[in-house]
Amino acid sequence: MTLPDTTPTPRRILLIIGGGIAAYKALELIRALRKRGLAVRCVLTAAAQHFVTALSAGSLSGDTVYSDLFSLTDEAAMGHIELSRDADLLIVAPATADLMAKMANGLANDLASTVLLATDKPVLVAPAMNVRMWLHPATRRNVERLRADGASFVGPDEGDMACGEFGPGRMAEPERIAEAAVEMLRPADAKPLSGRHVIVTSGPTHEPIDPVRFIANRSSGKQGHAIAAACARLGARVTLVSGPVAIPDPSGVDVVRVETAVGMLEAVDAALPADVAVFCAAVADWRVAAQGGEKMKKDGKGPPALVLVENPDILATTAHRASGRPDLVVGFAAETEKVIAHAQDKLRRKGCDWIVANDVSTATGVMGGDSNTVHVVSAKGVESWPTMSKAAVADALARRIAAALGESTWV
Ligand code: C5P
Repeated sequence: MTLPDTTPTPRRILLIIGGGIAAYKALELIRALRKRGLAVRCVLTAAAQHFVTALSAGSLSGDTVYSDLFSLTDEAAMGHIELSRDADLLIVAPATADLMAKMANGLANDLASTVLLATDKPVLVAPAMNVRMWLHPATRRNVERLRADGASFVGPDEGDMACGEFGPGRMAEPERIAEAAVEMLRPADAKPLSGRHVIVTSGPTHEPIDPVRFIANRSSGKQGHAIAAACARLGARVTLVSGPVAIPDPSGVDVVRVETAVGMLEAVDAALPADVAVFCAAVADWRVAAQGGEKMKKDGKGPPALVLVENPDILATTAHRASGRPDLVVGFAAETEKVIAHAQDKLRRKGCDWIVANDVSTATGVMGGDSNTVHVVSAKGVESWPTMSKAAVADALARRIAAALGESTWV
């Protein structure tokens, strides 16, 4: 996707390249950005220069490369404050653990960190680091802080890492970072989902047994939250109705927190009308018929029998609404076998427009994991997408939704 050529001068990116093995991909990123008509200027940290040279970055960007905060010549030509404001968007790729720690804490002891502290422009962060470093509580805190400060994130992806380990920490592919940059630069009213209201359900539900116990499932909310964030990035007003999860709220969406299936249906109804509803939550099929007001005790008469009653089906209820049905209703189907056949059956039974089907057999590790292999099933056929991170699935689905709203038929 390229930006419409309405501006006389190209939009400018300041690309801050951190010192990690993924720095070589930053060179591809320069090309991906320029391919989209963006001007790129690079700042290299001292560590980055161990991985890529200023000559490579300068040749590909066609501009001066900056790396020294105390260079008299650089400072005379383009002061560091000017450098930080002259761009329309700053991209940090790869954003190392160290660079993110500096950003989160407002350190400014080299050119990259100083420019990041001095800027008044949006910042897109593409983290890349060892999986343990990414999962370390210090990095978790820094990511939260940066999100709260308004930074946008793309990636990291899950996969094999240069250090021989596996997990989240790989830098997002350059094409995806470039696409995210294009979306960020697009004026709010020109984004593909601007003016649209999207409801997303996410996470598990907790169905109480007594005041301290509940029935739940392993849903993490990662996929639903990523979809909410992706729709918001495309300009939608998003209401995220979330069951109890341990992940942060995505930025730029209205979050309604619920516990139970009944509470989730009420919240969805209250959020209508909407153009699109994406039902990603793993809603409990049953709840306990008579919840104990007091904690159940062992009374020596053997285990109690839990009598269950069926929960409302939020997806089917919304898809079958006589009035106020969203134009596009999307369900998810977590299946352990015959994934597509079951999804087609579910599409008919639930009355929705698309079912996004995925294989959650334990071997695939989808539940709670970071990647997903999905098939988008509609009355018109099946689109099978390659295995991607949940964030990439979310981006692709948000784009697919935007494209569908612009068409007269859904697939
Ligand atoms: O029937 P099953 O649970 O497999 O259907 C999954 C789809 O239906 C998901 O989109 C899920 O969010 C939705 N669902 C719902 N309310 C329920 C059960 C499932 O919205 N009570």
